[in-house]
Amino acid sequence: MLYDDNPTLVGIAKEIDESKQGEVFFNAQPAESADTAAGLFYIESYGCQMNFSDSEIVGSILAESGYKPTRDLELADLILINTCSIREKAEETVRKRLRLFDKIKKQRPGTLVGVLGCMAERLKTKFLEEEKLVDLVVGPDAYRDLPKLVAGAEDGDKGINVFLSREETYADINPLRLDSNGVAAFISIMRGCDNMCSFCVVPFTRGRERSRDAFSIVAEAQELYERGYREVTLLGQNVDSYKWENPENGEIVNFAHLLERVALVHPDLRVRFSTSHPKDITDEVLHTIARHENICNYIHLPVQSGNSRILELMNRTYDREWYMDRVEAIYRIIPDCAISSDIITGFCSETEEEHQDTLSMIEWANYSMSYMFFYSERPGTLAARKFPDDISMDVKKRRLNEIIRLQNHVSLKHNKADIGKTFKVLIEGDSKKSDQEFKGRNSQNKMVVFPKAEGYRPGDYVFVKVKEASSATLIGEITPQ
Ligand code: 5AD
Ligand code: SF4
Repeated sequence: MLYDDNPTLVGIAKEIDESKQGEVFFNAQPAESADTAAGLFYIESYGCQMNFSDSEIVGSILAESGYKPTRDLELADLILINTCSIREKAEETVRKRLRLFDKIKKQRPGTLVGVLGCMAERLKTKFLEEEKLVDLVVGPDAYRDLPKLVAGAEDGDKGINVFLSREETYADINPLRLDSNGVAAFISIMRGCDNMCSFCVVPFTRGRERSRDAFSIVAEAQELYERGYREVTLLGQNVDSYKWENPENGEIVNFAHLLERVALVHPDLRVRFSTSHPKDITDEVLHTIARHENICNYIHLPVQSGNSRILELMNRTYDREWYMDRVEAIYRIIPDCAISSDIITGFCSETEEEHQDTLSMIEWANYSMSYMFFYSERPGTLAARKFPDDISMDVKKRRLNEIIRLQNHVSLKHNKADIGKTFKVLIEGDSKKSDQEFKGRNSQNKMVVFPKAEGYRPGDYVFVKVKEASSATLIGEITPQ
């Protein structure tokens, strides 16, 4: 998954995925007055796209029981924060926000504050009992319980449910689309993770992996298309291990089948997905992408490290050669595919030579972009229990800077190679800098900016010829096709 909590995640990564990162606020029509509803709620999300998608599920559950969304913190009767535990930095950010919410609570007694998501499981007692900062703590599998817990909290109970389920997929819930541009939406296809990468807290905070009913996924995509959306991103911690058995006839739907079914909803509905795991991505998936024009030619394939010994310590279950074989297969089967990565530097015992292997992988794989982090030890993980966090912060930061510098250089080269090419771009809205320009993405997930032209609006496809490129953006002009 893609995460946003790290100030070192500069430049390209932030730029390219700007619409999918940062805080999220409701964009639904605000209530005219609170007395038409059970109350007003406000929600902020941190961390991965899955958290953003979960906030939309929470929105839908609360709306069902009469709550209405507000974008104004000062008006909210219920303030929710959907949290991330992936790195220490993410947790620190949330703590700061909670202290602010606490001040609001003191000014406006009766306001309830709830912590949702990955920190809920990790820090439940701390929040509720020691720090007395919040009224509700609700884990990622317990959102259906929210209305009941909120009602209890209104009567003075401390509401807590961090039960992790083996079955919950929220398959029947129609998410309330938040802060949406009306063009692109996320669809959650599975939850949890069974991989146990040694650095990662996700299997502990989100529980066991389970796949959602394929019919409900296709129906959600269909409904989004009918409402005018033109892009869906299928989300899971490891989409390649998606597997759903139809209880009616025992038929098994794997990720390749699912991709195809969603692609067949409509040729004008673009399909993206995240995240792929190098150990699980199959040629069948690659051929499915190649066969359908509307499945985007872009794969986020986190390498984490370019060195086989470190990969083994990370429990990634592949080595450098395996990863390279998968990259070769991608470029062979989908020649114009862009590949991006997640990289962790300064993992336990990493040497300078091993760091060089990561640098050489960035160049060899020719990533269009990467999300780059230094290792942050997370309590309870395999690595925290087994290996000392023995790379100094200075070395971690220096290695990270080398990685960022190289990736910026590779991204710039990647983008410059697009000058003169024409791409089909889905218009998402105004560019960040000017309302005279549109922004949109090409199939390779690159942000393209171009002057507006009469008759085009967000949700339309246009052909754009690239004139200039930075490491983050392609700049071009609409061209007749
Ligand atoms: N420290 C640093 N980065 C981490 N990630 C996951 N856990 C950690 C950690 N403990 C990164 C990985 C993952 C991405 C979502 O976050 O690169 O792919
Ligand atoms: Fe964490 Fe690894 Fe699962 Fe990704 S695949 S969520 S890094 S355990």
